[in-house]
Amino acid sequence: MKYSEGESGRKFKNMLKEYFDVLSELNFEDMIPWLWWVDRVRGTSARVEKVAKEVDEFLDGLVEERLRKQSNSGDDGDVDNSEDFLDILINIQKKDANSLLDRDDIKGLLLDVYTAETDTTTTTILEWAFVELLKHPRTFKKLQDEVRMVLQDKNHINQQDIDNIKYLKAVIKETLRLHPPAPTLIPRVSREDAKVMGYNIMKGTRVIINGWAIQRDPKVWDEPDEFQPEMFLDNNIDYKGHDFELIPFGARRRGCPGMQFALVIDEYVLANLLHKFDWELPNGGKEADLDMEEEHGSTVHKKVPLLVMAKEFSS
Ligand code: HEM
Repeated sequence: MKYSEGESGRKFKNMLKEYFDVLSELNFEDMIPWLWWVDRVRGTSARVEKVAKEVDEFLDGLVEERLRKQSNSGDDGDVDNSEDFLDILINIQKKDANSLLDRDDIKGLLLDVYTAETDTTTTTILEWAFVELLKHPRTFKKLQDEVRMVLQDKNHINQQDIDNIKYLKAVIKETLRLHPPAPTLIPRVSREDAKVMGYNIMKGTRVIINGWAIQRDPKVWDEPDEFQPEMFLDNNIDYKGHDFELIPFGARRRGCPGMQFALVIDEYVLANLLHKFDWELPNGGKEADLDMEEEHGSTVHKKVPLLVMAKEFSS
């Protein structure tokens, strides 16, 4: 079933928008617990409860629908052997009566992956990589030339092709340095009293890591606000969680489990867009006209949506 069409599609989109909006709202109860009542007074708590109920009912419906589909599978002679993430979770639960996964866990995992996956992956490429490339026409041309040289007139690109476009990887790395989709990572709670740079951090303190500031720290990066993918051709800094100056995916055990998946998608989509199309700003717009303002939210989008025209490229 598709959730993007008709009346139900509209409702689904509104629900998700509200979900992401409340997720990114300043929440007093989490930040300054004794001010919990402020959330009540300004209506945030009521919004959270309402959307949590809606999302829960939606996910319940999704699981029910899949269970029905699984039990009817083959009734019409049409056996579908393909499994997606939801099938896999349901099957783990079905196979083992002592499984640690219950219905709430399945719904939680679906929501966790959905929330963490979609916006982050698309904002990286469809917004920030593209807008930085349009703002830097020489970089754009260099990348597009390299993409077209490696891919020639291929229609189907594989991972080996992508791995040969070194500059593509550098461009994505630099995009994630300047525009980490989740700039403050996921909040932590200190498990014990600690001293960091002279500050006493009490056990139980909520700790927020400003990845955005680290990735633009002038003590670490030359001209930190400039878009310079070249520097990643000459150094070994990577975002696998060992180089703490570049942490768009977080680090260590709490780091993003979807990193490889995200990179494959982002590299693949960007390579295809540059391979098959030429791009320009509408109405003869110039790179200087591009607005770079960010909008706050659970992921950081461009405040003014990017408008760009594609022209099919034939070699
Ligand atoms: C460019 C794309 C992405 C970026 C920049 C990104 C970044 C992050 C960051 C910064 C975190 C928090 C890590 C920490 O606090 O140390 C995170 C968590 C997470 N990411 Fe990603 N992510 C991306 C794509 C994806 C994709 C495609 C998936 C799934 C297929 C995914 C699944 C998750 C999950 C499930 C968590 C939560 C882990 C937890 O609860 O501790 N992410 N991601």
